[in-house]
This record gives sequence, C-alpha cells and structure tokens, in this order.
Amino acid sequence: MALLRLKWISTDLLASVCLMKRAVCPGSFDPVTFGHLDIIERASAQFDDVVVAVLVNRTKSSMFTVAERMEMILKTTAHLSNVRVDSWSGLLVDYCKSNEIQSIVKGLRAVTDFDYELQMAQVNLQGSGVETMFMATAPTHSFLSSSLVKELAHYGGDVSSMVPELINTALKSRVQEGGK
Ligand code: PNS
Repeated sequence: MALLRLKWISTDLLASVCLMKRAVCPGSFDPVTFGHLDIIERASAQFDDVVVAVLVNRTKSSMFTVAERMEMILKTTAHLSNVRVDSWSGLLVDYCKSNEIQSIVKGLRAVTDFDYELQMAQVNLQGSGVETMFMATAPTHSFLSSSLVKELAHYGGDVSSMVPELINTALKSRVQEGGK
C-alpha cells in the first residue's frame, strides 16, 4: 500500500514537473534596471519557473563581469521564489533546449525595439520552435536602458530612480575606478 502511494506521489510529481511552465528572461543586464526587474517580476507571476539568463552579447562591451551581473540579479530578485539566475554564452535556443525551456520573455519598450526583437523571435521560432512572449514595458520605464543608465552614471547623473540602490552604489564605484 505504502509503495503504491509512493508510486502515485512520484507519478504526480513527474506530471507536475513535465507540465511546469518554464520561461527564460534573457539579456545582457549590464546592469539590471527597474525596467528589467518589472518584466522579471511580471514573468514570475505568469510562469512556474523563470530563469534570468545573463547572455554574453558579442556586440557589446560590458561594465560589469557576468558574475557581478548575476550577483546583482540574485540580490534584486531574492523576493521572487520561482526566479533563478544563470549565464550562457551561445545561442539562446540551445540554452532553452538543454534546459527544457519553452518560452522566451522579452520586454518591448517602444516601436524602436520591435524590428530587431521580431527578427530574433522569428529566427528562434523557426530554428527550434521556442516561442517568444513580448511584454509591454510599463510606461514609467519605456525610456530606460542599461546603456542610458551607464551614460548618466558616467557623467555623475542621478540614476536612483532607474536602478535599485545596490546597483546605484556599484555604478558609482565602477565609474570612480574608471570603468565604462
Ligand atoms: O540585453 P540585450 O543585450 O539587448 O540582450 C540581447 C540578447 C543577449 C538576449 C541577444 O543578443 C541574444 O539572445 N544573444 C544570444 C545569441 C543568440 O541566440 N542570438 C540570436 C540569434 S537571432
């Protein structure tokens, strides 16, 4: 009887793991902003398991190392129990395949994002069947980007309304060290 019960539990467990809706929020996150965090938080409400993946973007140089960026995301998403942090250097669809992730979640800020994001979503869909879900960025964050934050921080501008305090502090010290 006990064995039968155990079998039931394990079948249930297996079924729930298989049915788990898993998504990835990919990006450079150099550094993570309130705009990213808004999308991550909203994705965590829609999916069972959300991986925030710090991807190496070949076309961009970074201010923070991948390990530093991961640490920042870990700290600023600590309140979201179904959110994990990982890194990847390669094709996003390969990451999705090897981690059984069915959906990519991206924030769309404005029409200027659309062409490039649509192109990537279509290539990713065609190549692997991985779906991309676009979330409209909250209007308060529509102008926000990591590049803008770094530019402002570089010239001593106030970015306290754009990033959490610990990121603001990290930006200030990186600028003082001469980081770009
Ligand atoms: O925050 P970013 O820099 O705008 O994020 C872009 C990123 C890293 C998500 C994108 O460049 C990406 O998915 N890179 C991984 C390589 C890949 O799969 N490229 C897409 C082929 S169309």
